[in-house]
Amino acid sequence: MTVHFIGAGPGAPDLLTLRGRDLIAACPVCLYAGSLVPEEILGHCPEGARIVNTAPLDLDAIIAECKRAHEAGQDVARLHSGDLSVWSAMGEQIRRLKALGIPVSVTPGVPSFAAAAAALGTELTLPGLAQSVVLTRTPGRASSMPEAESLANFAATGATLAIHLSIHNLAKVVADLVPHYGADCPAAIVYRASWPDQQILRGTLGTLEAALPEAIERTALILVGRSLGAEGFDESCLYDPDYDRRFRPRSARAGSDG
Ligand SMILES: C[S@@+](CC[C@H](N)C(=O)[O-])C[C@H]1O[C@@H](n2cnc3c(N)ncnc32)[C@H](O)[C@@H]1O
Repeated sequence: MTVHFIGAGPGAPDLLTLRGRDLIAACPVCLYAGSLVPEEILGHCPEGARIVNTAPLDLDAIIAECKRAHEAGQDVARLHSGDLSVWSAMGEQIRRLKALGIPVSVTPGVPSFAAAAAALGTELTLPGLAQSVVLTRTPGRASSMPEAESLANFAATGATLAIHLSIHNLAKVVADLVPHYGADCPAAIVYRASWPDQQILRGTLGTLEAALPEAIERTALILVGRSLGAEGFDESCLYDPDYDRRFRPRSARAGSDG
């Protein structure tokens, strides 16, 4: 018996991995994390599966569900939105399960920042503009931030920022970032990336706040950086005809050309 942690992706049901789908189909118990996991994904559960929304449960109750399944010899599919490596609360669950001797596995999912970048049709690391992406958040009711992980510190690098869990805090985000990136820096908000009601707001740090509809108060990403929508960037060396690569060595080309 194993508890299979599965990244359920950003929202669109077909952005689930094949491995995730097959594991869900093989587990008689499915625990899923609330409204960010679409109904269609739960449709992969086998008939008669025990399907539990864990949004109203505390950690003790979630672990009790796993323990019950373990005692009955039933595998569990544990679904969280996006990928499990960021803000999934997987860490604390795995720690408890390991202490109980319950085996776990982890299957990655498509993270929301990737779905948001796809919705924008944008590469977040453009040569000469940004070569790093910072996945971050601002402090919330339940989570403080380590002191050095301030937006100002990240902004000092000029990296592309993908700011999660912070749409309610947009005014502060803008105020913290404008001194570093400038009010004219491209920025975007992607609400419910890949869901049918996805919305995209493009603008600059200076225009973002005024453009935000009141209704968007959660499940949105704030993306900031010179890479967003930029046209004036360098081409990478990867496809440069003069660049000597292992799979496209100049010597081979010289030979075949000659
Ligand atoms: C608890 S975190 C979960 C992150 C998730 N594990 C991931 O891989 O993206 C929830 C936050 O992720 C972002 N998020 C999750 N799904 C999203 C989506 N479909 N579109 C935009 N932002 C999303 C929002 O910032 C939201 O407040």
